[in-house]
Formats: sequence, C-alpha cells, structure tokens
Amino acid sequence: MDYKLEILKLKKEKNALILAHFYQIPEIQELADFVGDSLGLAQKAAEAKVDIILFAGVHFMAETAKMLNPDTLVLLPDLEAGCSLADSCPEDDFRKFKEKYPDHLVISYINTTAAIKTLTDIVCTSGNAVQIVESLPKDQKIIFAPDKNLGGYINKITGRNMVLWNGTCEVHDILSTEAIIKMKEENPDASIIAHPECNAPVLALADYIGSTTGMIKFTQNDLNKKYIVVTESGIIHQMQKLSPDKEFLIVPSDSTCSCNDCPYMKLNTLEKLYLALKNETPTIEMDKKVMDLANKPILRMLDISKKLKLI
Ligand code: 13P
Ligand code: SF4
Repeated sequence: MDYKLEILKLKKEKNALILAHFYQIPEIQELADFVGDSLGLAQKAAEAKVDIILFAGVHFMAETAKMLNPDTLVLLPDLEAGCSLADSCPEDDFRKFKEKYPDHLVISYINTTAAIKTLTDIVCTSGNAVQIVESLPKDQKIIFAPDKNLGGYINKITGRNMVLWNGTCEVHDILSTEAIIKMKEENPDASIIAHPECNAPVLALADYIGSTTGMIKFTQNDLNKKYIVVTESGIIHQMQKLSPDKEFLIVPSDSTCSCNDCPYMKLNTLEKLYLALKNETPTIEMDKKVMDLANKPILRMLDISKKLKLI
C-alpha cells in the first residue's frame, strides 16, 4: 500500500492536520502540514481549526495539543510513544518535593505529564525557557522540573539558583564528550551545536545551544559550512533540506555506538499514521478537571511567549 497517498487522501476527507516533531523519520516530516519544536507544535495545535489533529510526536506533545484544542480529536499513532524525561518525574514524588519549598514557584519543562502540569505555575520549552525564567523577578524562588540538565544550563546563564528536580532524557544525557571531542579533532572546521537536554560537560563544548528550531535556524543563518550536531538524529533531515550545501555530522552516544535515536519518537511509522487516521484511534483522552488545571500553566507560557515576541 502507498501509505503516503492514502494518508493524504484520508487527511482531506476527514479535515485533519498532521503535526510532526523534528525527530520523526524523514518520510513523516515530508508528509506533515507542520514540522516543529515543542513550542511551535503547541502553538499550531492551539490555532488549528480542524476536526482531527494527527500527532507524529510523543505523548506529552499530543496531550498538550488536546489541552489547547479540547474539542478536536487528537490522535497519537502509538500510545507507547512516551518520554523518559516525563517518566523521570512521578506525580507523588514531585508533590512531596514541592512541599519542601512552599515559597517557590514551579516552572516545568513541557516534557511532563498532565499530572505534573497541574502542580506547575508556568510551563516552558527549550525554545523559551531562559526568557521565561528571566521574565520573573531576580529574587523569585523557583523549582525547575524535570530536566536537571536544562535547569542547570538556565541557572548558569541567568545566574539564578533554581532548585532542580533530578530528571534527564535518556537519549541526550548519554551523548558523550569523548565522542564529540574525537569528532572535533577529525573535523576542526566544524561548529558544535547542542540541545540543552545534554549534560553540562557536553554543553561546555558547544558553540551554540538551543531548541531543535533554534539549532536549525542557527545552521541556516551561520556562515560556517560544517556542524557536529549533538541531539537526536531526526533533526538532520530539516537541516540538510534547508542548507543543502552544508555538512551535518550527528554525534554518537559514545565512540562505539550511534544509538542517538529517541526510541519513543521513532515508534511512529507511516503505517501507524495511516491506521490511526483510518480508524480514528488511539485518541488522547483526558479527565476534564486535570485538563483544565494542567492547561493553565501552558496558557501562561504562550501568553509570556507572545508578549516577549518569541512566537
Ligand atoms: P524541542 O522543543 O527543542 O524540539 O525539544 C523537545 C524534545 O523532546 C527534545 O528531546
Ligand atoms: Fe523525551 Fe528525550 Fe525522546 Fe525528547 S528525546 S522525547 S526528551 S526521551
């Protein structure tokens, strides 16, 4: 079966919008109406005026889309497409942690479950995290969850002392300094660009640090021709497409392995997208009370991002 053709047919018939993250396989990115980072995808989902959103990404992203557009049917082709970062912050443990800091405001990365968002004051993404923190008074006490790497990076560049939840992304946290240094020795003319979910020693090697959109834009506008890309491999597709004359080297997890694919993102296939749209399942279903509470810090994030002209 020509899945691409069938998906496009169903999309038209059912008035659907296909949203995809940059870590999806190239075939899915090419099929999507919009490919973006978490912030861009949230904004597109909020604005969408369609009957169905088919989300080629992971669960927290589809859940965010549902909260921002509750009357639209949101389909996630494989409900097992979770996120290790979101899983690293269980609700009960986080509630107890939060109780220890009653005068702190909670900023949560969007890579969290809806339950964690109900315990959050403002959500952020890698595309606006620094600006959201900086929009708050200098003396504001803050808990940052769940990514200790992103939180540590923000602390470093803003001079804050946010209390960090001890979570990490299983993909970014194992990208190794040794592999990057070896690649840089072999390619001294390459710039190193990294996602802020990488650990501090890796970020210390980077010439640019930013969200997936930030990294792609950087490679478009920068004068260099060669990049060591320190994030999930799916991003190379857009980078190469937008800058065909440049060279992109994806950094392996260590010198012996190239396992830098997010196993959750990569659960999505063209066949699963086709079946989800055809059968209108699996859908994202949420408890109305949780949805209303969890949506508040997301709307706060979008509001601040608009005011700061980040979207
Ligand atoms: P971005 O918002 O930068 O695309 O990051 C999402 C993510 O899950 C990275 O691992
Ligand atoms: Fe989650 Fe990491 Fe996959 Fe991003 S790359 S979706 S943070 S597990």
